[in-house]
Amino acid sequence: MLAIIGGSGLTQLANLEITRRQVVRTPYGDASGPLTFGHIKEHEVVFLARHGYGHTLAPHEINYRANLWALHDQGVTDVVSVASVGGIPADHGPGTLVIPDQILDYTYGRKSTYFEGSEAPVTHIDFTEPYCDKMRRLCMQAADLAGEKYFDAGVYATMQGPRLETKAEVNRLERDGATIVGMTGMPEAALAKELGLCYAAIGVVVNYAAGRGNNATAIQFDEIGRELERSMHRVRAILEHVVMIHAD
Ligand code: HPA
Repeated sequence: MLAIIGGSGLTQLANLEITRRQVVRTPYGDASGPLTFGHIKEHEVVFLARHGYGHTLAPHEINYRANLWALHDQGVTDVVSVASVGGIPADHGPGTLVIPDQILDYTYGRKSTYFEGSEAPVTHIDFTEPYCDKMRRLCMQAADLAGEKYFDAGVYATMQGPRLETKAEVNRLERDGATIVGMTGMPEAALAKELGLCYAAIGVVVNYAAGRGNNATAIQFDEIGRELERSMHRVRAILEHVVMIHAD
């Protein structure tokens, strides 16, 4: 079964015919909210709003372990995660879509593995390729069908937040090879991999990163709000195709 994890600007799916909502108990505590089960064009899909349905959880407050565990527990095998991000290079302005293929993790203090505690054997997962190729390709195919352009690769730098970056931090991220910057890419991707889920992300650029483009001296927050609305409309159309291709 396919799951969609929605980020900022995507706390619900207008094109989802909801059949039920389910609170899932996990050994790791509460997920961001009940899982929303439903259909898009008659195909079953589960939706979870990463920040909670009222957008009340900051990136570092999200219980990533509970979220992924709950989805896995309910029979989810494949996950598309939508994340709003800042764009770093000049050609990654607001409205750009990126299907990242790599991750840089600058987060700290987050519960980022299931393999801990006295009873769990020490386990190291292979994370050379952090995203699932099958799901990445499916997202690209869906974007093609929706008539949307996108970057078919990118390096997603995950920052701790909730504050945005300094200019120097963005310069450092660029030197490190990052093309987009967000706050929720990790540990989500690693936990998905630990559970054997086929997981990919769609990065939606809603602003130039700090110090870049029109944000050279300060972040224009009102523009982020407008871009979120515009882009998530496009993302919903892509997700509709993701669901349909996934069911084929
Ligand atoms: N930085 C970090 N996270 C973000 C940004 C950003 O510029 N935009 C949206 N999420």
